[in-house]
Amino acid sequence: MTDNPKHEIFNILFVDDEENVLRSLKRLFIDDDNIEVFTASSGKDGLDILKNNEIAVIVSDQRMPEMSGAQFLEKAKKVSPDCVRIVLTGYADVNAAMDAINKGGAFKYITKPWDDTDLMLTVLNSIETYRLKKENRRLTELTKKQNEELKKWNTELEFYVQQHTVDLTKQNKELNNLNEKLKRNLKEFITAFSNLIELRDKTVRSHSNTVAALSGGIALKLGLSESEIENIIVAAQLHDVGKIGIPDIVLIKDADELTSDEMEEYIKHPVRGQAAVDPVEELREAGMLIRSHHEWYDGNGFPDRLSGNKIPLGSRIIAVADKLDRLTSGGNSRLSLESALNVIKSLSGIQFDPELYGMLHEVAKEKITIDSGAADAVEVELRPKDLMTGLIVSRDVRSGTGLLLLRKGATLNERNIETMKRGYHIDPSKSGIFVWKRTR
Ligand SMILES: [Fe+2]
Ligand SMILES: [Fe+2]
Repeated sequence: MTDNPKHEIFNILFVDDEENVLRSLKRLFIDDDNIEVFTASSGKDGLDILKNNEIAVIVSDQRMPEMSGAQFLEKAKKVSPDCVRIVLTGYADVNAAMDAINKGGAFKYITKPWDDTDLMLTVLNSIETYRLKKENRRLTELTKKQNEELKKWNTELEFYVQQHTVDLTKQNKELNNLNEKLKRNLKEFITAFSNLIELRDKTVRSHSNTVAALSGGIALKLGLSESEIENIIVAAQLHDVGKIGIPDIVLIKDADELTSDEMEEYIKHPVRGQAAVDPVEELREAGMLIRSHHEWYDGNGFPDRLSGNKIPLGSRIIAVADKLDRLTSGGNSRLSLESALNVIKSLSGIQFDPELYGMLHEVAKEKITIDSGAADAVEVELRPKDLMTGLIVSRDVRSGTGLLLLRKGATLNERNIETMKRGYHIDPSKSGIFVWKRTR
């Protein structure tokens, strides 16, 4: 046999109604270990063998009673389409052999009497054709199967990647939420802390919040980045945190009434303020602004006698806002907004950065408009349970013992409503919450 590396055994089938022909044919392959010979004396028997065995090559006589070779091969083709079919025919029957080739899909015909070597060669070549066909089919099936497997892996991979992306997005969202919550907690902590400062220093009411609102407004007009604005607001809210360590007697006096010892104590508060917030990493930048909020533009301030642009911009902003609020809300010497602005204008270039005056003026005017309410609004007093989001608070909201819960001018949202409800529950106030309500 030709190339047969796996020593596969191939079945061949001879069909002839003459026993001696079958015997002669069988004898030709008796020594070939790779070939098993089946014989049948009729087309009908041949089909039975074909149904039960994998036959590589059929060699069939053309002239047989009941079923001719052409008819048999036609049927054989339906049972086993891959097997190679050969017809044996006499010289007189060439037309019938053509019929077998056309209808039965015969590979070729061999004429009787045959030459043994030719016949053996033809059968061996036919076995090779069958083997290649079978191998080809096997490889095609394998490729198809591997393709399906690849497709499956691909789909699974895609699904995995998608799932992983969904998980990562979810984790990212959770981290963002957590981060937001931490930021909110820090802000609430800062507000609570600045409320404590105000409880300690009775000369100022809602001073920190007003300075924070004015400073934030100026920083916004200067076009600073979101994080810079945030930093300035935080520093403004905590700018006087260092006053917690100052004795009461110093706090209740005006600056020009202080003795030199008291003044020495007072000027420590910016550095103390910076030291107080320094342990909180997120507040360190704000701490630097707190340190310099009493520096003067001409270099005559404290604690470091910085001048001009050497004073951090945030500190220069807080300084003008601080002064404006102290002039307009400070005890007996309270000034009108216009007079207070004039005082600051006269100190521009000396105590304050002259570049900031215009912006302070604008922000202060806007604030006044909010504070006095719109022309079509009336002031109403509500209980905490009746508060609605979107309303503007017309007076500072304080708990029963005077702790500031919300400054006037703030817009109600779900969070600050909740804060006030809690504040009123823990430390009830006799009055309600005053808000502006539109009349049309
Ligand atoms: Fe201060
Ligand atoms: Fe202050």
